Amino acid sequence: MPVIKIANSGQTINASPAVSILNILLREGIRINHLCGGKAVCGTCRITIISGMENLSAVSEKERGRLDAIKAKTNQRLACQTYVKGDAEIEIPGFKP
Ligand code: FES
Repeated sequence: MPVIKIANSGQTINASPAVSILNILLREGIRINHLCGGKAVCGTCRITIISGMENLSAVSEKERGRLDAIKAKTNQRLACQTYVKGDAEIEIPGFKP
C-alpha cells in the first residue's frame, strides 16, 4: 500500500490508489481547504509535491485548467484530483499540525 508523508508534520499515512489525496487527508483528520468539495473548481486544495511526482495519477484537462488559473507551480497538484500509485511526500500550504 502506498504511503503519503506530510512534510509539514512528519506524519506518514497509508493511501489507497482508489481514493483521492484530499479524501485520504480528510479521512485522517488532517485539515486542508476544499472549498468546492473536490470538483477542481476552487483550487484551495493545492498541495506541493516534495517527492514521488512519478507515482501520481496523470493531470486531467480539468485539473490542468484550474492549476493554470491559480498559477500553480510545476510541482503542485490539486489534492482532490490526484491519486497515488506509489509513495509520495507532500506539503500542504498553510497547514500547521
Ligand atoms: S477542492 Fe476545490 S479544487 Fe480541489
